[in-house]
Amino acid sequence: MTEFTVEGFVRDMRGIAAGQDAPNVLRAYMDRLMAAPDAVREAFPPELTGDQILFEDDTVSVWRTSFEPGVSVPAHDHRMSAVICVYQGEERNDFYEADPQGGVRRSGQVVLAKGSVLSVGPSAIHSVTCTSDEPALGLHVYLGNLTKQERTLYDIDSGTAMPFDDANYEKLMAADRYS
Ligand SMILES: [Fe+2]
Repeated sequence: MTEFTVEGFVRDMRGIAAGQDAPNVLRAYMDRLMAAPDAVREAFPPELTGDQILFEDDTVSVWRTSFEPGVSVPAHDHRMSAVICVYQGEERNDFYEADPQGGVRRSGQVVLAKGSVLSVGPSAIHSVTCTSDEPALGLHVYLGNLTKQERTLYDIDSGTAMPFDDANYEKLMAADRYS
């Protein structure tokens, strides 16, 4: 793979999203990319914090993500296929299944160390916790427009599902139950 640049990555993601078999082609691309995770890290300013949307349209959303140590993102869905990779630090993904009685129950866990890649299906529900002493930095590519998509947040204790909006997100972040 040639030298990693943000512009080149976005261009490649747009091409993959517009092509055949996008989820599998995207996964193979990310596997190749994570053979050299430091090349990705070096392409971003070290002082950069938080999440950045590098590109989005109706076919693809390209995010650079940053999770601070100990911080968790509450359980949520995407309703589109995604592939995520971690190029610094470590994050724990807890997966949940909708319970026929209502609510959600935890169904699995995947720890992504530096250099790991994870495919996330369109019906998946997950929470993410940074488990390293340094921020967990990653690239998340969603095959659709994530910010326009209606999505769901879950309170994993009560099983309550609620719309994914800023107020519900802040409320669930404030009552962290994941670490
Ligand atoms: Fe997610």
